[in-house]
Amino acid sequence: MTLAVRDLTIRFGGVTAVANMSLDVGAREIVGLIGPNGAGKTTFINCIAGVNRSVAGSAVWGGREILGLSPAALLRLGVARTFQSVVSLHDLTVLDVVKLGAAAHARRRSGFIAQFFGSERTFEDELCESLLKPLNLADVARSPIQTLSYGQRKSVDLARALAAEPQMLYLDEPVAGLTYQEGLNMGAVIRSVRDRFGCSVIMVEHKMDVVMATCDRITVMAHGSRIFEGTPAEVQTDQEVRRVYLGDA
Ligand SMILES: Nc1ncnc2c1ncn2[C@@H]1O[C@H](COP(=O)(O)OP(=O)(O)O)[C@@H](O)[C@H]1O
Ligand SMILES: [Mg+2]
Repeated sequence: MTLAVRDLTIRFGGVTAVANMSLDVGAREIVGLIGPNGAGKTTFINCIAGVNRSVAGSAVWGGREILGLSPAALLRLGVARTFQSVVSLHDLTVLDVVKLGAAAHARRRSGFIAQFFGSERTFEDELCESLLKPLNLADVARSPIQTLSYGQRKSVDLARALAAEPQMLYLDEPVAGLTYQEGLNMGAVIRSVRDRFGCSVIMVEHKMDVVMATCDRITVMAHGSRIFEGTPAEVQTDQEVRRVYLGDA
């Protein structure tokens, strides 16, 4: 399935946060969305995730217009997301949170988790095996979220989103707040998630070394619009991108 966003525009009062923004994401493609603070990246994701109501444009996912659909409706179409800021959900355990992600999507029991319903293995065992182990969370499966490091909580948020078996995954700054090494690990995890689950990914991220190592293609936003699109190597060498974003004079 592919996503085609065209001419998306959204205003907050007098501020045009996203202006005629277009973006294509192919099947199994990881697209990086970068740009300075306030460029409109989160707002753009919120529009195609059913949170913000855009004033104009279209977003076609798998042949269907998805602008205006609720997050729950999008989940049923295989679109899931993680959040820029992860919150601690009191004393819920890692498994509790991941089960919430699976439950949110329980009606679409067709994929890899579903095949274990009704079999000898328990659902929790399967979640541990298929999701928590690859994200290095198996050892803390029954630990309360508050006892986890920030980096581990980011992984829990990713596991929650993956429990819905998405075909499209929006990641808003998955590496923010992580240590350098945790960030590189997360980048590798995102690529392995794509390989394993076969999903497409839009990844908003600031840490350039992770973006370069993780993404197949990169779109650069500034002032609500796309100013450049290319491979990681092309983005690194483009003069205008270096000036606007990477801080060159
Ligand atoms: N709910 C809102 N109300 C008013 N202005 C907003 C709102 N959300 C975002 N903005 C504004 O939209 C612009 C883009 O913000 P944002 O999407 O958060 O940027 P980024 O994620 O690229 O840092 C900023 O100028 C921000 O202040
Ligand atoms: Mg943001």
